Amino acid sequence: MALLEVKDLHVSFRTDDGIVRAVRGASFQVEPGQTLGIVGESGSGKSVSTQTIMGLTRGAQVDGQALFEGRDLLTMSKQELVGVRGAKVGMIFQDPLSSLHPFYKVGWQIVEMIRLHDKEISRAAARKRAVELLQLVGIPQPDRRVDDYPHQFSGGMRQRAMIAMAMALNPALLIADEPTTALDVTVQAQVLQMINRLQQEFGTAVILITHDLGVIADVADDVVVMYGGMVMEQADRITTFKAFHHPYTEGLLQSLPAYGGERTRLRAIPGTPPSPINVPPGCPFAARCPYVMDRCKTELPSLEAVAESMGHLSRCWLPHNSVARQAARAKLGQSLPLSADA
Ligand SMILES: Nc1ncnc2c1ncn2[C@@H]1O[C@H](COP(=O)(O)OP(=O)(O)O)[C@@H](O)[C@H]1O
Ligand code: SF4
Ligand SMILES: [Mg+2]
Repeated sequence: MALLEVKDLHVSFRTDDGIVRAVRGASFQVEPGQTLGIVGESGSGKSVSTQTIMGLTRGAQVDGQALFEGRDLLTMSKQELVGVRGAKVGMIFQDPLSSLHPFYKVGWQIVEMIRLHDKEISRAAARKRAVELLQLVGIPQPDRRVDDYPHQFSGGMRQRAMIAMAMALNPALLIADEPTTALDVTVQAQVLQMINRLQQEFGTAVILITHDLGVIADVADDVVVMYGGMVMEQADRITTFKAFHHPYTEGLLQSLPAYGGERTRLRAIPGTPPSPINVPPGCPFAARCPYVMDRCKTELPSLEAVAESMGHLSRCWLPHNSVARQAARAKLGQSLPLSADA
């Protein structure tokens, strides 16, 4: 059984400008101990999907299912959900200050987190655990730094402290939403490595959310590509990078600086994502797709199996057989051939 199984999740917000359709039928699974990468440009619905699952989107209209260890998080009471959050699912965000309170010492915050979920543990034991956790995430002199305030930590150290707090209760799942986006490249790599090491040590499953496919290139087992609130493609990591089907995935890959070993070929996808309020009919990527066909503009493709590989799904009208697809692409597109089947 999957640890987390999200089925046909819809999330919308009523605003003065109209109804924002942030997530329009997203489904994905996370297996125990595995890493799922969720990737897509800003605004594609990555954060809203995971925050909704954890009961953190206020005032949203929500539909669908999110089965965690077989129980639906979307129908749980607030109290039950608080028990899951932190204890069974840890969360880290781009901005550590959204989780670390500036007025309290880092160690105190970790201690409180532990004591919230473990009523038996003494303050001294929780503090000892907090020091161990800070050591685990590579904070130097953790027995002293435990009494620092968040502002006394560097950005990278704050991110580590937040990870320590998220891992405090040994959760089965860690949701990391753009955890390295605000960090410089060297620190980014260190933080990713650390998450990976903790995951192996504790058998934690991870959802790693990013706008940058490069971040998940080394760590994801499976990848979900989101666009316009929908899953566009889903596959294992190798398939995503080498034998993708969807033109949006291709666009994301082409905008990676080092893709194909050629540092100069950085091409952002031209155009902008569709409005989440006036959602266009047809494929949400149609306005930007180099392979767009007439039917794309009016008919929304469904997420369907790609013929060649198990568990590979794509939402696109291009043929699902690689030979036919390549022929169609050659006829329609002027894009660089770069997939394995090119
Ligand atoms: N509370 C809210 N009210 C209205 N719209 C929202 C709210 N939160 C998010 N959105 C919108 O939902 C869409 C998806 O947002 P988000 O999940 O944060 O994107 P991502 O994390 O992929 O960058 C965006 O268009 C965003 O503006
Ligand atoms: S359905 Fe059409 S517009 Fe959408 S990604 Fe596929 S080819 Fe492009
Ligand atoms: Mg986000």
